[in-house]
Formats: sequence, structure tokens, C-alpha cells
Amino acid sequence: MSAFSNIPKIILDTDPGGDDIFALLWLQSLVKQGLAELIAITAAGGNVSTEKTFSSASRILSLGGLPDVEVGRGVVTAHSSNDASHIHGNDGMGNLSLQLPAPVHNYEMARRSDDLLIERLSAMPGEITIVAIAPLTNLAAAEKKAPGILRKAREIIIMGGAFHCPGNITSHAEFNVWFDPEAAEIVLNSRCDLVITSLDVTRRLIFTREMAQSIVQSNPDSELAQFLSNLCEFMIGTALEYRETNGISGFLVHDAATLGYLFYPETMMWIRARVQIETRGEWTQGQTLIDDRNLAKQPANAWIATEVDAARFFTSLLEDLKRLISMQT
Ligand code: BDR
Ligand code: CA
Repeated sequence: MSAFSNIPKIILDTDPGGDDIFALLWLQSLVKQGLAELIAITAAGGNVSTEKTFSSASRILSLGGLPDVEVGRGVVTAHSSNDASHIHGNDGMGNLSLQLPAPVHNYEMARRSDDLLIERLSAMPGEITIVAIAPLTNLAAAEKKAPGILRKAREIIIMGGAFHCPGNITSHAEFNVWFDPEAAEIVLNSRCDLVITSLDVTRRLIFTREMAQSIVQSNPDSELAQFLSNLCEFMIGTALEYRETNGISGFLVHDAATLGYLFYPETMMWIRARVQIETRGEWTQGQTLIDDRNLAKQPANAWIATEVDAARFFTSLLEDLKRLISMQT
């Protein structure tokens, strides 16, 4: 590939998670279409333990047809006993893991995710795009070990935070930031051009049963299509009385929003702002704050998505998932 190639070279930092799995499969489709390179996955603790997110990442890579991509094992923190298995299943994948082939990567032998980030970013300064769809523990650990390392990324895109809407884990906080707010603060202070897709936009991304059915209908014999449909059913079942989805039966594909920005940027609108993280509040831990009063006068550290064209977003997501399935059969 030419040195001037514009194809993003991606490290996906992920804690699968139902919505992480949709994002990872979407990304694998884009890789197979020649639109992205997947350099590595850095698994993280969050939705479930680091062991489980590592195994899920490995299984989903095999399912999508990219089993050779390296997977790092997540950095364990004091926060690591909190999880979201009540939403994503005990295994983080809708309790469907045993229906898939065993992981091909070995947790004990794997490099730590922070070491993997440091090694790849140092080897390819300015080239790697980090897509961070988990608590920011791995990125912060890398920055602590090698100060300035995150500035070597070409771009960092984060799913996290809630600015003009309630949180999803407390009334003030979104899960990824709430899980490890100190890590989020370190990452937010690492550079001035972070890209953030928060609950303000991801709450509009409701994946429905009809969408899953259209994927199955496009290829009824596909194991992958059936898996996606089963995972969708599980996630719809754990969605909290559809309060988050405006009463629509579906679940939110939060993490996929990051890829929407990267590959279909016409689907979103943005503001530039200084984002700060509440790390000490008694009731507000993990809150993400911006001062709306005069955005232009603040030393901004991030672009924040404010609007998403959900119809165009889902058109692209569904087409790409169907393409991945058709490329496998
Ligand atoms: C985020 O929290 C996790 O449960 C999801 O995978 C997503 O990354 C949404 O708040
Ligand atoms: Ca996630």
C-alpha cells in the first residue's frame, strides 16, 4: 500500500458487549472491502471481565473471517469488578458464546493491551486511528507508561459521555466514562482533537428486530446472520423497558457510532468544546461536562457529535453487514 494511502489503520479498543460486536463485525466488513486495515484489537474490561472480553474478541474475529489479527488482554483496575452483564449476558455476547467456535487467541500468552498500544503507536507514529468503545483504562495505562504516546495516534475516536441528556448508568454518567473516570480524564487531557460520539447521538441509533430479519433474509443459511439475529433478540430482551429507545422495540448500537463517523462522516454534525470529567463528585462521578455558554472561547480538546442522520447511518451499517455475510458464502 502506498505511504499516502488514506485507508485508516485501526486499533479497536473494545469490551464486547453486544453493541461492540456489531461494531467489530461492521469493521471487519470494511476491512474486507478494502476500506480499512485492522492493526490489532486491544480488549478492555468493562461490560464483562478482561478474560471474557478477550475471548469474545477472538471468537468474533474468527466469525468475521479475520482470526489472525492480534488481540491484547485488558489492563485490570480496581474498577474491574463493576460490569454490565445484566445487559450484555454473562459472557458479554448474549450468552451465545458456546454456539461459536472456541477462541483461537490465548489470554495468558497475549500481550497487555497498553503494551500493544505503545508498541504499535511507536512503530507507526501518526498513522494509527484508535477507535475506543470501552472504558478508557487501556489508553490511560499506555499514556501513564509512555507519556505522550496517545499523541502518536493519527486520531482517537471515543464512544463515551452524555452532554445534553441523562446518563445510562447514573442520571449523570454514561457507562464507559463512569467505569473508569480517572482514565477518561487522562485521555481527555492527552490531546486537543479527540472525537467523541456520546449518548446524545447514540440514543438515536436503535437497531430493530426488522433490521436483523432483513440481514437473515439476505442470506438465510448464514451462521453469522443467525448469530446477529440471536444477539439482537437477546439485547432487545435486556433493554430496560425500552425507556432508552423511546418505546421502540430495539437496542442501541452505541459503539457503532464511532465507525459511522469514520466511514460515513456525512451522517453526523459536530461542535468543538472543552470536555471535563467529574472524578470526585459524590453523586456525579463520571459526568462529562462542557460549558455551553461560550464554546468558541474555550481551549477545546474534542469534537462532540450533536446530530446523527439515523436513517443514512443504518442504511450503511446494514449494507455492510450483508456484504460481510455475502463475502463469506
Ligand atoms: C457503552 O457502554 C457499554 O455498555 C456499551 O458497550 C457502550 O460502549 C454505552 O454507554
Ligand atoms: Ca463497549
